[in-house]
This record gives sequence, C-alpha cells and structure tokens, in this order.
Amino acid sequence: AQWLGNMSRFQASSLQRRLPQSIIIGVRKGGTRALLEMLALHPQVAAARSEVHFFNREENYRRGLGWYRQQMPLSRPGQLTVEKTPGYFSSPRAPNRVRAMAPAMRLLLIVRDPVERLVSDYTQILHNRQARHKPYPPLERLLLRGDRGLDTHHKAIQRSLYALHLAHWLAAFPPAHIHVVDGGSLIREPLAELRHVEQFLGLAPWLGPNNFYFNQTKGFYCLQAGARPRCLDESKGRPHPPIAELLLEQLCTYFSAHNERFFSLVGRTFNWC
Ligand code: A3P
Repeated sequence: AQWLGNMSRFQASSLQRRLPQSIIIGVRKGGTRALLEMLALHPQVAAARSEVHFFNREENYRRGLGWYRQQMPLSRPGQLTVEKTPGYFSSPRAPNRVRAMAPAMRLLLIVRDPVERLVSDYTQILHNRQARHKPYPPLERLLLRGDRGLDTHHKAIQRSLYALHLAHWLAAFPPAHIHVVDGGSLIREPLAELRHVEQFLGLAPWLGPNNFYFNQTKGFYCLQAGARPRCLDESKGRPHPPIAELLLEQLCTYFSAHNERFFSLVGRTFNWC
C-alpha cells in the first residue's frame, strides 16, 4: 500500500502541462473535431479540448508561451500533447510563429472537398445566426454578384483555397512535417486514416476496429472508449441546406485550378467535385 501510494504520488507529480508536439491546423469544417477526438482515444495522446487560437489571434499571442502552455491538458511523460485550431491554416502569421516555438512540430491538415467545406462553413454560420434569431442571406445571395459572377473575395471562398494557405506553411516547414488527412475518407473509414496518423506521429499502433462503430441514426462513425460509446455533438455532421446547382457548378469550376495546385503541392490527388 505504501509503495502504491508512492507510485501515485510520483504519477501525479509527473503530470504536467506541456507545449504541443502536434497541432491540427485546419481546415475549418474539414473534420478537425472528429480527427482530434479520435486521436485522443490513443493512450499516448493528451488533447486540448477547446480551440486555443494562440498563433492566429494577436491578443492571445501577446500573452506568451506561458499562457499557451496553461491552455494545454495535463500529460504524462511520453504522451504527445495535441491541440487543434482550424483558424491557424489560413492565418499568414501562424506558420512562422509555430516554427519559432517548435521547428520539429508535426502538423496535421485535414482537407475536404472545397465546395463541401464552403457549404458546411455557411451552414454553421446560418445555424449560429438562427439560434440568435438573426437573419442570414441564402448562400446564392452571399456569393453571386449578378453579372460579375462569384465574389471570390468572400471569406468562405478564400478559406477553401487550400494551395494558397499551404504555400505559407511549406515556406516554414519541410513537407515531411505536414501530414494531410483525407476528410472524406475519415468520414467513411476513420480507422484507415487514423492508422496513417499514428504512423506519422510515431505512436504505437493502438487504435483498432473496436474504437469506432457506425451509428445509423447519426449517419456517421461514433467513438467507443472503454464501455462508453460517444458521438460528436449535433453541430458535427448536420444536414446542409439545398444550394442552387448553378452556384455549385460555378464554385467547382472556380476551385479546380486551385485544387490542382494543391494536389501538386502535396503530391497526391483527391476526388473532389
Ligand atoms: P458537416 O457538419 O458539414 O457534415 P470540423 O470539426 O472541422 O468543424 O468539421 C465538421 C465536419 O466533420 C462535419 O461537417 C462532418 O462532415 C465531419 N465529420 C467527420 N467525421 C465525423 C464524425 N465521425 N461525426 C460527425 N462529423 C464528422
């Protein structure tokens, strides 16, 4: 009993908040929450539950690394601390700031068909507005400018230009430090994607088929940790409103050259729109 008491005291004292060794940098609405929660099932992973917004928000960055460390979860030695803030991916200052803190950082980027990402982004804002009883125009009205076509400066479009943002990260980190996760495949076959992630992060292969089960009602995979099954909350995997076919086609055409550039940057292709 004495020995056990000493052991637990030792374990408690070795629990510390550590700076992350890996960050999920984006993309917003790509499946970042699913990726983090699934990865957090691994016993060697300690995940920060809420988004930290350290490298992309001046008011937080000014608080310094001590503050950033305080936002991290307690971890044991040998555990990998991971945080996710999708806002980092499109923040021009984030890549150099992350490198200044940790040049060995392992970055995870989960991508999804840019048109689906955009519609998902719009759906989220629409829901938030509706919850506050505020109106929000249809996507067609937000993005189409009559004869002048698409408003390509719109944030929702800009965030889907993956090549543009990735170029900033590749100027700061070698390609081997950035692992791209296929968000479409994470929806259909989470285990396959998670195994690649385990490998990239140097984790022992631990996640298995028992950690995931398909929930018919939700229409998505949910997580099984021990005896407790758990799905992501209802803001993840919700139906999208219908969007005019013409707009979807215009978006698809607009993104295609950007997508090609992204494929050549990452050395693989995705089956998008
Ligand atoms: P939708 O709600 O538009 O379907 P993020 O966490 O980056 O905001 O991404 C949200 C998206 O994660 C969801 O977008 C959903 O498609 C996707 N996702 C991937 N795997 C999921 C899962 N197992 N459960 C719920 N959503 C999942």
